[in-house]
Amino acid sequence: MSETLEPLVLIDTITKPPAPLGLLAELTHRCPLRCTYCSNPLELETRSTELDTLTWERVFAQAADMGVIHVHLSGGEPTARKDIAQLVGAAAQAGLYTNLITSGVGVSMDTLDAMLAVGLDHIQLSMQGADAGVTEQVGGMKGAFERKEAFAHAVVERGVPLTLNAVIHRTNIHQVPQMVQKALDLGAKRLEVAHTQYYGWALKNRAQLMPERKDVDRTIEEIEEARERLKGRLAIDAVFPDYYARYPKLCNGGWGLRTFSVTPSGVMLPCHAAQTIKHLEFWSVREHSLAEIWENSPAFNAYRGTDWMPEPCRSCERKHVDLGGCRCQALALTGDAGNTDPVCIKSPLHDAIGELARTESEVALPGPSTYRQFRSADGRTP
Ligand code: SF4
Ligand code: FES
Repeated sequence: MSETLEPLVLIDTITKPPAPLGLLAELTHRCPLRCTYCSNPLELETRSTELDTLTWERVFAQAADMGVIHVHLSGGEPTARKDIAQLVGAAAQAGLYTNLITSGVGVSMDTLDAMLAVGLDHIQLSMQGADAGVTEQVGGMKGAFERKEAFAHAVVERGVPLTLNAVIHRTNIHQVPQMVQKALDLGAKRLEVAHTQYYGWALKNRAQLMPERKDVDRTIEEIEEARERLKGRLAIDAVFPDYYARYPKLCNGGWGLRTFSVTPSGVMLPCHAAQTIKHLEFWSVREHSLAEIWENSPAFNAYRGTDWMPEPCRSCERKHVDLGGCRCQALALTGDAGNTDPVCIKSPLHDAIGELARTESEVALPGPSTYRQFRSADGRTP
């Protein structure tokens, strides 16, 4: 794997942040699938708290005014919203490049055509496995595989660029070559093979999901081989597991520097998992403009630049490259979001993280995975 050492920011104190480039619009947490690797929060937001159509339209217009180029319409399953075509249209009208991130399950052809008619640019379809058995095991839904295939065919028939996104873990890591073949067979232009990032439900299921090192190493070879063989036919992007890495990832392009998320209820976040950092103060798009939140909210300014860094990051030659790694991962693994991401080889916890991954991946499965589900205060499914 090659890596860039291009510095991301050269100034340490950021008084005025650069314009953001991307918006992850989590339109809803509702979803017909119940994937064990889902990165949505454990406390899923219910339908009654979701932003209405007009507010999302305002969000897209303000995002475009700020300089945002592309919007990822995501969830949950974004097409669970009845106004999805209207939302796509509003984003396109605002001048944003629109990418729909979907499970492809339960999307009617009428809905697909309605979204395309108002300017949907690209579709990213999730892939839980290369066959029906693994897909159903991971997604917790019977018949999901066939529906996904049918949806992929419909997208390609209509000439829309299709990316397949396969989140890899212990249950499906043996299927990477078949996933590559499936992407070719379905006519996808791009395949993303992304090892699970341990947030939300995935963090809860980490011991069931963590792959063994030898399997990770094998997939690296498989992907390199496929990339070479399929040059010009299928582009393959790969994300390898953090816990086995020497250095952390530059998370979301840097805290408050390139992208932001808006939750179904309208909370604007520097990254999709930021609400796990409980001491931060998050602002809502219901009460503030996006520009106001981006520039002035305490949460966005908390870890911008490098001034906040402790040692060893503070005096590290890579501090402008990875910006100290992922704040949410630092919180999940060290209890303090302000620590160095402990997957870093310079962190005193680096060896312990590697050992944790080794232990979790090599022991017998510690019980069934927890499928994603809604829970209201009274225990009923809303
Ligand atoms: Fe990145 Fe900090 Fe590790 Fe340096 S010490 S490589 S800045 S996480
Ligand atoms: Fe929040 Fe990485 S997911 S900073």
